[in-house]
Amino acid sequence: MNVLENLKWRYATKKFDPSRKIEDHSLDVLKESIQLSVSSFGLQLYKVLFIKDKELREELKKFSWQQNQITDASYIVVFCNYIKKSEEHVDEFIALKSYTEQSSIEDLRGYGDFIKTKIKEKSIKEYQHWTALQTYLALSNLLYSCAELKIDACPMEGFIPEKYNDILKLSEQGLSASVIAAIGYRSDKDKTQYYSKTRKPIHKLFEEI
Ligand SMILES: Cc1cc2nc3c(=O)[nH]c(=O)nc-3n(C[C@H](O)[C@H](O)[C@H](O)COP(=O)(O)O)c2cc1C
Repeated sequence: MNVLENLKWRYATKKFDPSRKIEDHSLDVLKESIQLSVSSFGLQLYKVLFIKDKELREELKKFSWQQNQITDASYIVVFCNYIKKSEEHVDEFIALKSYTEQSSIEDLRGYGDFIKTKIKEKSIKEYQHWTALQTYLALSNLLYSCAELKIDACPMEGFIPEKYNDILKLSEQGLSASVIAAIGYRSDKDKTQYYSKTRKPIHKLFEEI
């Protein structure tokens, strides 16, 4: 299948088949596709939870507009962005980069200091918005990788982040839920899968200059 066929195959799944589960080997591919996502400076200022626990998902559903995807999908993926500035994040990244690239921390110090300066320039609100934006790039990789593997998904903002933060104890880790995705397999009773895609026409969406 080519890129466009995958993108046409996928849709925001409304009704999952609760009896079908994603195999571990596919889950590993999805995790790696998130791991390989681009991020600003390469910092990956987020954490991603894969939740399969039924009871926990019943609880989360109450704060997710009662959307059935929360309990019927195979997993709920919760993208959580860091909301507190910390130089440790940058130091950890530089240490990891130094180890991965076999270069000395000293050689990377200038880059680390540059990142720290750029982060200092942001207000806390701008910082939180910026880290949340990064999670959407990871979400996008997840969605595309799901399509490639013929796994269905529904990206979701229809939930109350504050409640997720309490229930999943995210606040105490300096995290906040930004966006979630339900992943699994479509039910053949999901009529949405047969809908045509509503998209702006090419001539309105693009301009070549
Ligand atoms: C960030 C984001 C949040 C969304 N939130 C929800 C949601 O809470 N519930 C839902 O059923 N669909 C949700 N959607 C799905 C969109 O409505 C859907 O992607 C869009 O209508 C295009 O349709 P398609 O994905 O089927 O092509 C969300 C999509 C995105 C990208």
